Amino acid sequence: MNKLKFALIGCGRIAYRHAEIINNIAELKAVCDIKKDRADEFAVKFNAKKFYTIESLIENEKDIDVISVCTPNSFHSNHTIQALKAGINVLCEKPMAISVDECKKMMIEADLSGKDLFIVKQNRFNPPVAALKNIIDDGRLGKILNAELNCFWNRNDEYYRQSDWKGRKAIDGGTLFTQFSHFIDLLYWLIGDFKTLDAIGKNFIHNKIVEFEDTGVVIGEFLNGALCTINYTVNSFKQNMEGSITVFGENGTVKIGGQYLNVLEYQAIDGYKIEGLAVSRPANDYGFYQGSMSNHEKVYENVIEVLTKEGTIAANAFEGMKTVEIIERIYKSMESKQ
Ligand SMILES: NC(=O)c1ccc[n+]([C@@H]2O[C@H](COP(=O)([O-])OP(=O)(O)OC[C@H]3O[C@@H](n4cnc5c(N)ncnc54)[C@H](O)[C@@H]3O)[C@@H](O)[C@H]2O)c1
Repeated sequence: MNKLKFALIGCGRIAYRHAEIINNIAELKAVCDIKKDRADEFAVKFNAKKFYTIESLIENEKDIDVISVCTPNSFHSNHTIQALKAGINVLCEKPMAISVDECKKMMIEADLSGKDLFIVKQNRFNPPVAALKNIIDDGRLGKILNAELNCFWNRNDEYYRQSDWKGRKAIDGGTLFTQFSHFIDLLYWLIGDFKTLDAIGKNFIHNKIVEFEDTGVVIGEFLNGALCTINYTVNSFKQNMEGSITVFGENGTVKIGGQYLNVLEYQAIDGYKIEGLAVSRPANDYGFYQGSMSNHEKVYENVIEVLTKEGTIAANAFEGMKTVEIIERIYKSMESKQ
């Protein structure tokens, strides 16, 4: 069978991971960036055609199967919609968008075009996270009582200074969108939607460079009655410290931690033990800072499986929208206190 043909919009930091994987398991036919030097560099490095606008790419490349959207957060909806309108499937980086309204427009366009819309949620593939999902779904933890999420990362001024969009409310959306949307997705995926969410946020030490909170505390109640706390900050001194989820069920407690949800830190489960976990892959390394687990190849394997055989989308547009909705609710609660 012929390899699927991909195009990449946005040739920045995360796009490197995408391009490497596409070149390994499919064909990277074209790349596009409004920064010409970046498109040029990717085109040479990955042996792809280059374009400087998404319009010219779509106009000239008629046999693309999938466009991977790796542009800044607030551009995801427009780029996704343009690709879908052209009859091309889309793999969209997280967050799906920075408002529920945009997500709905993307979902409507996917429906009208009959094309698939995949959202990147690679942390679901972390071995301890996948194991926790299985035991919750199998009912081994019994009724879920509460879940605690801690996200303690470091993002210094230099990180924001190097970017022309990170830290800007209108494009970035907020710390929960850019740094911690994977973690919010996991709460939703593991336990479900929220009945109530109440939050306070503050910008303690990034006032000069970031237009929104650098720290937040959230309390919530899930629809199933379980309680939740979320503590997050990008002020962990000098370096990332922790990204952890602890789930307390009536028949078991499990904590997944490490810096990137990559370590099974604690388990006490009635009559059961999680064992034999595959070794977690290292985090995405961007030089002077680290990001989430580097499981993008699992995301691509899913895209290819769905489009070439039978398969279920690992993270679909509805789920992408729910993460955005939960974050939007948290930010509304924060804003109501200002
Ligand atoms: N899944 C993950 O773990 C993960 C990790 C990092 C980033 N991301 C997400 O990936 C996206 C990109 O992040 P990044 O860190 O690579 O950003 P980046 O700034 O390094 O790259 C974005 C690129 O998009 C280009 N661009 C902007 N507008 C464009 C347009 N109209 N047409 C074509 N190209 C355009 C920019 O010139 C830039 O090269 C963000 O949404 C981010 O949240 C996801």
